Amino acid sequence: MDGREPVVVCRLSHRPGRDDRMTTHVGLTARALGADRVVLPDNATGPAETVEDITGRFGGPFGIELRDAPKALLSEWSGTVAHLTMYGLPVQDVEADLRAANAAEPLLVVVGGEKVPFEVYDRADYNVAVTSQPHSEVAGLAVLLDRLFDGAELDREWEDADRVVVPQATGKKVVEPDGDAE
Ligand SMILES: C[S@@+](CC[C@H](N)C(=O)[O-])C[C@H]1O[C@@H](n2cnc3c(N)ncnc32)[C@H](O)[C@@H]1O
Repeated sequence: MDGREPVVVCRLSHRPGRDDRMTTHVGLTARALGADRVVLPDNATGPAETVEDITGRFGGPFGIELRDAPKALLSEWSGTVAHLTMYGLPVQDVEADLRAANAAEPLLVVVGGEKVPFEVYDRADYNVAVTSQPHSEVAGLAVLLDRLFDGAELDREWEDADRVVVPQATGKKVVEPDGDAE
């Protein structure tokens, strides 16, 4: 993961109520699996608060931004745009190109929600499919980030956490960052 430019995840749309859980999970997955920032539509205040709260408790750095019409970010973006869609090219065929592109410039990873306008497919440098089967933006995002970082994100160190989970074969162990059990 070292020696790369920022990776930002953009959620194009959000339907309050109906999409709350999915939009929250886009943000949490982006954070947990190594992206630097998530951009959410400005009506996704609840999901943004949840992701902020988790970042405050479990650490960062990770940025959360709410903005009007996230789609506009695509035309402003100076860097590579990868759009997750079942209609795109297989992730296993483009992952090396994405890695090379991100070594040189920031990468915007776009996930849809309700119907994605065609201009998004057109602007994307890479339309990327995680299988050509319909599933979920959260699953697609997780696989893309893991391929992009080649698994290195699984060993990431977190900063400014107020709790740390200690992996256990059985049961739960959570300690304060200085090592005291909670
Ligand atoms: C549940 S789908 C809905 C797509 C929407 N109905 C449309 O026509 O654009 C929501 C998002 O999940 C992601 N997604 C679903 N299946 C995918 C796949 N096989 N590969 C990559 N991304 C996928 C895409 O980002 C998509 O926009």
